[in-house]
Amino acid sequence: MRLTEPRKGLQMGGLSIMHLIEVLELDAGSGIPLETVGSAYTPQGSEQGDESSLDDSDYDDLFSDEDDEMRDLSDTDPEDDESVLDGVPPEVTIPQAQLESILGQMAVIVPCKGEDPNTIEGVLSGIPRGCLIVLVSNSEPRAYKKEVMMLRKFCRAARPALAVHQSDAAAAAAFNMYGLDDLVTHVGGSHKRIRNGKGEGMMLGIALVAALCPQRRYVAFVDADITVPGAVNEYCRAFAAGFALNPNPGTETMVRLRWASKPKVKNGEIDYTCEGRSSQVVNRWLNKLLSAMADADPTGSWAAARDSEIIVTGNAGEHAMTMDLALNLRLANGYAIEPFHFVELLDQLAPQAQNAHVGYNTGRVPNLQPVTIMQIRTRNPHFHRVTDDSHVRSMWASGLGSIYHHLPAPLSTPTTTPSSFPKNFARGEKLRGDILDFLADEQDESDNTKGELVHEPPRPRIYPPVSQLDLNGFREMVRSEHKTLYCLNLPHFKLPRPNTIASVYQYGVTPPL
Ligand code: GDD
Ligand code: MG
Repeated sequence: MRLTEPRKGLQMGGLSIMHLIEVLELDAGSGIPLETVGSAYTPQGSEQGDESSLDDSDYDDLFSDEDDEMRDLSDTDPEDDESVLDGVPPEVTIPQAQLESILGQMAVIVPCKGEDPNTIEGVLSGIPRGCLIVLVSNSEPRAYKKEVMMLRKFCRAARPALAVHQSDAAAAAAFNMYGLDDLVTHVGGSHKRIRNGKGEGMMLGIALVAALCPQRRYVAFVDADITVPGAVNEYCRAFAAGFALNPNPGTETMVRLRWASKPKVKNGEIDYTCEGRSSQVVNRWLNKLLSAMADADPTGSWAAARDSEIIVTGNAGEHAMTMDLALNLRLANGYAIEPFHFVELLDQLAPQAQNAHVGYNTGRVPNLQPVTIMQIRTRNPHFHRVTDDSHVRSMWASGLGSIYHHLPAPLSTPTTTPSSFPKNFARGEKLRGDILDFLADEQDESDNTKGELVHEPPRPRIYPPVSQLDLNGFREMVRSEHKTLYCLNLPHFKLPRPNTIASVYQYGVTPPL
């Protein structure tokens, strides 16, 4: 894969946010320039005859007299013309073998809820072979059966995969008993289940991978409603490229994708619009948050964050992390999960004022290693299930709620010493007030017949990090009491009861753990 070279963006304490990297070429081969491959390279079309045998007149049709501009170009040898490279950003190629090596250590979690199994199968078909597939479903029970049947069929050629349902009582009991009871809710009598929500499903996926397949060093998330399998393939490879390109040694990596376009059908035509409606709102307010933090910094070292537009992936549903980061990050519920990453990382990693934890972010767990956020723009258009305006509004409102209710320090610290604190607290309050004004304007503009916009954005539920879970206890309980867990082609992890299907090794492939 060939991409633009990563460029340093903002450094705020232990958090580095890189400028957007662009995918330039989906498959750049081994990474070795073609000249060095030498005689193996044959110019296109040469089988039809030697180019030197072409007469000048053969080009006449291509560059006719009427088109002076084209004639001018034909006089220039592109190899001699340095000017064509003026202003072209530096590039980098990740060799195929390096991508493969990272993909072989990656688990891809696919949260699903009610998608057609054929659509989900399309998503799975795009996930590169080395990746472990983890399907976390919150579909109706009957639909889950069909999803599992589809998965078993898809994985018949020794493809390793896990599947679990979010209502699994054993998984809920294991979370409850071994350290993550916040994720569990009671549904009638003593029956427990994991709470509804995409974020909750993703946390279940992270815990399963960490407990059952601890060798996986990277975890990625891809929605189940994407209808272009080739896009999924690109996303996974872009994740791997992002890990390979992190320029800051010793830091954890988060890779967040921005799509080339998110097309909509308008009056029967496809409109290749660049930014989703929710992303526009959430990115803008996350960048305003950065500005407010820059204003609050007494040293002035965050000046570059003022009025910057560096965050372009606030809502990135398609993202990936080093496993250590996924385990140690506090995560938010539902669709707040992606915007909250930024808020939490800023709070934990930007330099901390004394008593910082007494503001909006009580319950912080300051245990994170420095983190580098890689933002990458992919090439494929992103087609997925169409959602209505009210869904989009609730999604951006969740994003704003992440900021509004969890302002990072120092904007959230209402103490009296040292002297800059009251001023900074006021800056935070101003930002919160601006968010309320924005909500009120939106309320006026929308017909709001369903009453989904309210005075304040919703407060996200924040869960402790998955590392708080006793993974051994969790694994043994899920193994022995599971109700919905399927482990396919994972010979190192056997389930004692029928959900295990016989491994299929007829192709002689040894699946990675
Ligand atoms: N396991 C599980 N549990 N999965 C869920 C749940 C749940 O309760 N709710 C939704 N999902 C799955 C869906 O089935 C889908 O595969 C994925 O999560 C995303 O849900 P959508 O409803 O399709 O979300 P969206 O398309 O509006 O938003 C997506 O893109 C946004 C950026 O534009 C999501 O990925 C957002 O998180 C993201 O911010
Ligand atoms: Mg979707």
